[in-house]
Amino acid sequence: MPPGGSTVRGKGHQPRDVTPGAERGRVVRLFAMTRPAQPPKPDRKVTTLRLQEMKVAKEKISALTAYDFLTARLLDQSGIDVILVGDSASMVFAGNDTTVPMKMDEMVYHVRVVTRAVKRALVVADMPFMSYRKSPDEALGNAARLMQDGMAEAVKVEGGRSIAPTVERIVDAGIPVMGHVGLQPQSIHTYGTYKTRGIDELEAEKIIDSARAFEAAGAFAVVVEKVPMDLARRITEMLKIPTIGIGAGLNCDGQILVTPDMLGMNTQFHPRFVRKYAKLSEEMVKAFSHYHQDVKGRKFPTEAESY
Ligand code: KIV
Repeated sequence: MPPGGSTVRGKGHQPRDVTPGAERGRVVRLFAMTRPAQPPKPDRKVTTLRLQEMKVAKEKISALTAYDFLTARLLDQSGIDVILVGDSASMVFAGNDTTVPMKMDEMVYHVRVVTRAVKRALVVADMPFMSYRKSPDEALGNAARLMQDGMAEAVKVEGGRSIAPTVERIVDAGIPVMGHVGLQPQSIHTYGTYKTRGIDELEAEKIIDSARAFEAAGAFAVVVEKVPMDLARRITEMLKIPTIGIGAGLNCDGQILVTPDMLGMNTQFHPRFVRKYAKLSEEMVKAFSHYHQDVKGRKFPTEAESY
């Protein structure tokens, strides 16, 4: 007999625990099993589990990138599900030509300022070039830094079957991993071009194999970048974990864009897959030159703007 309770025989002669409190728990569980699925509360924290639920419920996942506090806070207020602190920061924040120069210390800094702002969205930190390739031990150490110093909730790595043991090691330590297949920007010097990947069947099969390897290694989601939409659809249908597409068409479980690109801040980048939701470059230049003229013309500040 359990301490403080008794065991009685119920219907079907199953021993029934009537420990105080157990009955209430059972009623709550029964209620949860029978009541219809409730729509999630809009302010419910997004977790890796929630993304899995969204895939099952065929609810699309929204994701964007952030590298600074104010943008991250606005993204979170907008209800975006996933905020990726991408190593695209190397290009759109730091002005490099590729993501290769990004360092661990720089990534930890960006992740920390973003997580300080975010309450609801799932924050995923990109693992920089070479921070997870040398050994599973070193990869785990770097992933741990992004979680403990950066306060990220998951990490993202590019690759495929060859890094599956590393992914397993990180996942096994309690760190959720997002994979990244298709165009892998950290391999730009191998490709020599940012063109669409997986056009021929041989490369398409390799990308499918990478996605499968991520899932088998325990990844909770996979980014699929710049592949034909039919290949992204095949991967999405094949995997139980969600796919998040960028330049991969409409059949992925979710979509991600680089935030400064979709805000129209980059006047030199106009690929087909980037829809511009604003023309911020025009707005910003207008505001800066207006300010410039006001200062020159002694129109700013006024007395009301002075102490
Ligand atoms: O670094 C990044 O922003 C990314 C997205 C393009 C998915 O990896």
